[in-house]
Amino acid sequence: MQVYTAESNQETASSRIFDISGHWFDPEIADEVWQEIEEHKWFLSERVGRDVGIKVACIDFIENIDSIRRERTDTERVRILQELGAKMADPGIWGTISDSQPPKQIVEKRILLPLVESELATKHGVTPPRTIIFFGPPGTGKTHFVRAIAGVLRWWFIEISPSSLTENGEDRLGANLKRIMEKVRGLDEAVIFIDEFEEIAGSREHASRLDKSITNEFLKQVPLIKRATGKLLLVCATNYIHQLDAALLRPGRFDCIIPVGGLDHAGRRTVFEHYLAKTNFGDVDVDAVVSLMPMFTPADMEFLFQKVTHTAFEKEYYQGSDYRITTADFLEALQDMKPTLTEEVLAEFHEDCERYTRF
Ligand SMILES: Nc1ncnc2c1ncn2[C@@H]1O[C@H](COP(=O)(O)OP(=O)(O)O)[C@@H](O)[C@H]1O
Ligand SMILES: [Mg+2]
Repeated sequence: MQVYTAESNQETASSRIFDISGHWFDPEIADEVWQEIEEHKWFLSERVGRDVGIKVACIDFIENIDSIRRERTDTERVRILQELGAKMADPGIWGTISDSQPPKQIVEKRILLPLVESELATKHGVTPPRTIIFFGPPGTGKTHFVRAIAGVLRWWFIEISPSSLTENGEDRLGANLKRIMEKVRGLDEAVIFIDEFEEIAGSREHASRLDKSITNEFLKQVPLIKRATGKLLLVCATNYIHQLDAALLRPGRFDCIIPVGGLDHAGRRTVFEHYLAKTNFGDVDVDAVVSLMPMFTPADMEFLFQKVTHTAFEKEYYQGSDYRITTADFLEALQDMKPTLTEEVLAEFHEDCERYTRF
């Protein structure tokens, strides 16, 4: 009886390849190469529409090994991008954010410029950040920012959804994160986004055992993302930064921790004009309306426009004549609207800024 050991198998693969092609592969890698040849036999047969022999496949593979491997990596990449739901974000989103918004300037200087001016950055030993947190009250535009960055860089935008992390049961959180991150690391030019980050990386002291596994896994994944060969940006967003595990917030894990707070007049004006442009508007005193909503987030403004445009739509429907939105419509809609930002919310946000901001 012949006993097969790992060693004799390797020997066989090397000598098989050698017999067919005259090329010698180290026994350590020959097994893997042989597997690739067997896969190539299948590919080649599909391509030419008939069953090719292992000899033909072996010779073709060895002769074209580099291009075949490259092609396979590309196909694999496309498959992963599809699987992860990668999208191209609109480059125009960047322009909807007012230059007066502090995070825009931080992102421009710290993130975009070193990537665009990579030679100059290298000359000065500047490494572009790879891991970023955006924090701030809900509706302030954190998600919007991340899409804007992906758009302006023309990189893939990949959102890791909570549902993909809980696939096959909540006890798989850590394992799922690991599996997804392994795929992500093989990509190039991609912004990876995790929203509601506190839900997966909450403080370990307060969290259940399930949460612990995912926080630990995340801590392992951060340095791996930083060492990946492709251009990757991992961005996490949270409304509650103080709920995050302190270990994650230590220097060395996230390169930048950027606050996204309320808007100034110019910032609100930009958002207002962005939404106004999509309506059937008449005489609107933009500055007057904008100055009436100092505590409004972009999400609040979006809601305001929903109300105003719906009223205009109904009015025209019932009156049957062209209805143009005016300042009065905004004043009326504003009467029963409560903005997200309050003195309390802002006080807490400022405390968080003092404590956590880093860029
Ligand atoms: N600068 C902006 N211009 C136009 N719309 C914006 C802007 N910032 C945010 N928005 C919109 O406001 C809403 C809330 O923003 P979002 O990014 O989801 O907030 P967050 O992630 O902080 O909760 C979204 O519909 C978004 O498209
Ligand atoms: Mg968001």
